[in-house]
Amino acid sequence: MSTCLACHQTATPVLNFGKMPIANNLLLPEQFNQEYFYDMAIAFCEHCYALQLLNLVEPDVMYHDNYTFFSGLSKNMTLHFQDFAKFVQQQYLAKEAKPFVVEVGSNDGILLQNFANQGMHHLGVDPSANVAAIAEQKGVKTLVDFFHEDVADKIIAEHGKADAILGANAICHIDQIGSVAAGVNKLLKPQGVFVFEAPYLGEIIKKTSYDQIYDEHVFFFSLHAVKNLFSQHDLELIDAYAQNVHGGSMRYVLAHKGAYPITDNVINKLEAEKQQGLTQLATFQRFAQNVAHSKQELVKLLTELKAAGKRVVGYAATAKSSTILNYSGIGPDLLSCIYDITPTKQGKFSPGMHIPVKPFDEFHADYPDYALLFAWNHANEIMAKETAFAEQGGKWIVHIPEVQILDLVTQ
Ligand code: TMP
Ligand code: ZN
Repeated sequence: MSTCLACHQTATPVLNFGKMPIANNLLLPEQFNQEYFYDMAIAFCEHCYALQLLNLVEPDVMYHDNYTFFSGLSKNMTLHFQDFAKFVQQQYLAKEAKPFVVEVGSNDGILLQNFANQGMHHLGVDPSANVAAIAEQKGVKTLVDFFHEDVADKIIAEHGKADAILGANAICHIDQIGSVAAGVNKLLKPQGVFVFEAPYLGEIIKKTSYDQIYDEHVFFFSLHAVKNLFSQHDLELIDAYAQNVHGGSMRYVLAHKGAYPITDNVINKLEAEKQQGLTQLATFQRFAQNVAHSKQELVKLLTELKAAGKRVVGYAATAKSSTILNYSGIGPDLLSCIYDITPTKQGKFSPGMHIPVKPFDEFHADYPDYALLFAWNHANEIMAKETAFAEQGGKWIVHIPEVQILDLVTQ
């Protein structure tokens, strides 16, 4: 038993992954013997319905000046964030003469740049100085800090209250969520909105996408969990929209209690969650069994391919891949290397299993027999640019929604 991070009642552990490294912490051989590991597990709270990580890693071990994840590297995500900005502007900012927009966890400015480019008053808050510096270069003003209640006070003193507070795959990273909610409540104008996106629990359960679980993802939100969590701080869930990014996400819109009507979207989705079992402990116990099965299938497939003399590589050294590789015990013997587009990842080794990470020109120069698609959430973008791999007989492996070799010819 453990204490729920959202409501402070008792949460029930449902799945233990064993020892895990920091998922974005790619490293050099001289760092192998000082690598940080922790026991990764998740728990479900039957009181407020929050699925959450246990045994949290200290935030400054994860978010620092050498943070290796840059949101702006995917074309589709850049387009998605343009759309996100347009949604907020058209729905909620159109009537404001000089709106002020704040983003929690603004990374390299990929979302806020859409507001900054129009000369709009904005402020990003992000704890990693290196990504914040890139945002600043794009003209996105960024405060290097973790967003919490005191930071909200500081922003109000310097800039006034906000018309919109945004979050994109950041709110679900924050264990001190009560302080964030209290900060949002203070910082938001009476008619202001808090709009954030996060990978959606309903999709994780449906697809057995257990690779969404790693040190940075503290909460796996559903509408039920978001509604209960923020209502403790007088914020109300007023709208929700499914998003086709990060393997299936949800955009949540919250406001001060009573400021806006609650839409049918919220009512219908809450009902669908009940039907799916997202409020039942048994659903997560079944999920744990599905995860164990997925691991067995993947190890079996890679072992068979190795026995058949095939060369298998990983495509994209995603944070998600760290969970799959470490939980399944897949190392360089089964997966010779991983290719990744991020310059700061290339030449390093994957966390925990220490698989070498290489640039894509090597992939294109010498195609392997199989590529395990770790960036499955970017499948369309990747398949479109890697047609030559399949044309030369290369095959894709995915583990979502089940372990399989994709037959592109018949698709
Ligand atoms: P994400 O799934 O969390 O967005 O992580 C994306 C990772 O995948 C990041 O390390 C960059 C890498 N990547 C590639 O290597 N090639 C690609 O075409 C894309 C879209 C991502
Ligand atoms: Zn709870």
